[in-house]
Amino acid sequence: MTSQAWSRGGVTAVVDSLLAVVLAMLNVPVFLLWVIGLLLSPVPVLGVELLTVTTVVVRWRADRERVLAGRVGVLIRRPYSPAPPGAENDSHRQVRWIITDPATWRDVSWLLPGALIGLVLGLIAVAIPLYGLCGVLLLPLWLSLADVWFGYGLFWPTGNTAEAWLALPQGLVILGAGLAVAPLLRTTDVLFAQLFLSPTANAELRLRVAHLTTTRADAIDAQAAELRRIERDLHDGAQARMVSVGMTIGLAERLVRQDPNAALQLLAEARASSTAALVELRQLVRGIHPPVLAERGLEGAVRALAMSLPVRTAVTSDLPGRLETPVESAVYFAVAEALANMGRHSRARAAWVTIYHDGGVLVVEIGDDGVGGADPERGTGLAGITRRLGAFDGTMALASPRGGPTVVTMEVPCVLSSPRI
Ligand SMILES: Nc1ncnc2c1ncn2[C@@H]1O[C@H](COP(=O)(O)OP(=O)(O)OP(=O)(O)O)[C@@H](O)[C@H]1O
Ligand SMILES: [Mg+2]
Repeated sequence: MTSQAWSRGGVTAVVDSLLAVVLAMLNVPVFLLWVIGLLLSPVPVLGVELLTVTTVVVRWRADRERVLAGRVGVLIRRPYSPAPPGAENDSHRQVRWIITDPATWRDVSWLLPGALIGLVLGLIAVAIPLYGLCGVLLLPLWLSLADVWFGYGLFWPTGNTAEAWLALPQGLVILGAGLAVAPLLRTTDVLFAQLFLSPTANAELRLRVAHLTTTRADAIDAQAAELRRIERDLHDGAQARMVSVGMTIGLAERLVRQDPNAALQLLAEARASSTAALVELRQLVRGIHPPVLAERGLEGAVRALAMSLPVRTAVTSDLPGRLETPVESAVYFAVAEALANMGRHSRARAAWVTIYHDGGVLVVEIGDDGVGGADPERGTGLAGITRRLGAFDGTMALASPRGGPTVVTMEVPCVLSSPRI
């Protein structure tokens, strides 16, 4: 580590420690507030509101600690069970949900010891470098005072000024030691908080079940929507054309004796309609599982997509094997939507797609140099990507500040099968 990075780490830890001290001072009032809320919870109407508000305050405080932990690289996930359905309209259910969630009690039991540890470690982490800094600053201060009061020159070390010269190296050593120790103290405080504030094995399991329940519901919704789309496409496209083919052939049958020429013309029309129906059916089948995806895998299919775009799109891929078919298909349609958005909304001059598999996770990044400002709230496509990938525990992250650029990052945990030959 360079000395610059080292001192920056020390200064950040000191600033965080100061913040931790201020927050730790809130712990006792927050604890007392929660106890009052709990004691008054049997009071009709008001009691429930009070307990809910005080629990929100406790969770806010615990969340601040989780954010501080994240700044030193310690991830503390939120452990709370999701509200049961209908809890917002049923006060008893709401109280039961709060009281029976072990995470609530773990938060509350952390407040007092957390305050003690946070204050002690935080104050030490702030006080040592501050003391060193005083020593460093003392020299110029003392010398200038000596100059003003006694007329000593800056380089005339007698009496008090000699002591001041001593304060400089002493101060520097203490400041350096303080900056070196501050990150350790900060990490100790955070690890102590982690003991209380991170999910227990049971809570992890509950969160996982809740997550799987939502993603399963989303996957079913997505499937149902896909089926409706196929049904609609069949109904409005190929089915309508086949009906018209049937009618045209019927008409031709009736005309064949009286006006063979007109009948021939009708038959030609029917043939054209049946060809168009076939084209539509092919397109539909391609939309369900594009043949290019089956033949050439994700990389080839994305390259084919990129080539059909009006914007120059560079595709870089490093996949040493094939993905499972459902994952491949989900990621392909997600990339297709992101690229379609780029073509429709971004006004980009260039775009790029990067695909790689690292540590058991498939990562696909789609970027463009366009106008930015993408917002999943304004359409269904981006939200659909999140839902589609969610079914495989995948995620989508969007970075699209106004003025650009836009980068969509998709991550899906998955294994690669059959290495490429
Ligand atoms: N690459 C991009 N560059 C700039 N803006 C974008 C980009 N992608 C999306 N957007 C903005 O984000 C909004 C939401 O995109 P989303 O795909 O969810 O919906 P949509 O494309 O408008 O409609 P659809 O539901 O048909 O996909 C878009 O309306 C557009 O304004
Ligand atoms: Mg879209």
